[in-house]
Amino acid sequence: MTLPIDPKLLALFKKDSKVVVLTGAGISAESGIPTFRDAQTGFWADYKPEELASPQGFSKNPKMVYDWYRWRRDIVLKSRPNAGHQAIVDLARLLPNVTVITQDVDGLHTQAGSKNVIEMHGSIHKMKCVGEGHPSEWIDDIASVPTCKICSAMLRPDIVWFGEMLDRSDLNAIESALASSTIFFSIGTSGVVYPAAGFMAEANAYGAATISVNPDRSAQGDARFFLEGKAGDVLPGLVKAIARQLE
Ligand code: OAD
Repeated sequence: MTLPIDPKLLALFKKDSKVVVLTGAGISAESGIPTFRDAQTGFWADYKPEELASPQGFSKNPKMVYDWYRWRRDIVLKSRPNAGHQAIVDLARLLPNVTVITQDVDGLHTQAGSKNVIEMHGSIHKMKCVGEGHPSEWIDDIASVPTCKICSAMLRPDIVWFGEMLDRSDLNAIESALASSTIFFSIGTSGVVYPAAGFMAEANAYGAATISVNPDRSAQGDARFFLEGKAGDVLPGLVKAIARQLE
């Protein structure tokens, strides 16, 4: 699908543009990974992500939370980056200054070849213990929640849960990328979970041109430009048009 692209939007892109791309679960939807706020499927349909993805949820029922992440991770392991991820890689080939900030924990931006990626919510491929936060690679165990080799405390996914703080160095890197951005994309996020939900307003305040890509019009928020459609449909055409305009 090729949408007609607003010439005012294309004219924003210069070789020295400083681009920030914020992504959410929608960018990975076309890779087959369920988003959070579209209905959950199967066994998990009755559970709210907010209840599972929280320290309280884990202390109440660690095995259930661990099993939910094992289920999501199995889907991630079977998935591949899609045309939306690839278009962001292609954009960074055209413009040297592109920072990807992702709320996704699936690692698909890096797998696609994006270099400058901030995984602000952590990674589903890593764990840490609930004791001292000792890091661990992911351990798959059907029978029970795995434990830390150093202190024997339970291991949990190394993911930022509801009510938890983001990594300080990630926050600093995000803040400096936003402060210098001239173009800000919000792609495939419902924009309801902070702090990411506030980045568009911040980018607007810093004077960046803001663009939202989403099949759901309600995700436009304060974006100056809205591109309605799936990331994998909209982004490749947009990046090709940017390439032509930079020639
Ligand atoms: P959501 O599930 O809240 O929103 C997904 C968004 O993607 C919606 O706006 C959809 O309309 C849109 N979407 C669906 N398919 C799309 C496609 N093919 N192309 C583009 N957009 C599409 O996911 P997030 O906004 O990422 O946090 O949720 C934010 C955070 O809440 C997540 O990182 C997660 C969750 O709880 C943690 O796990 C800490």
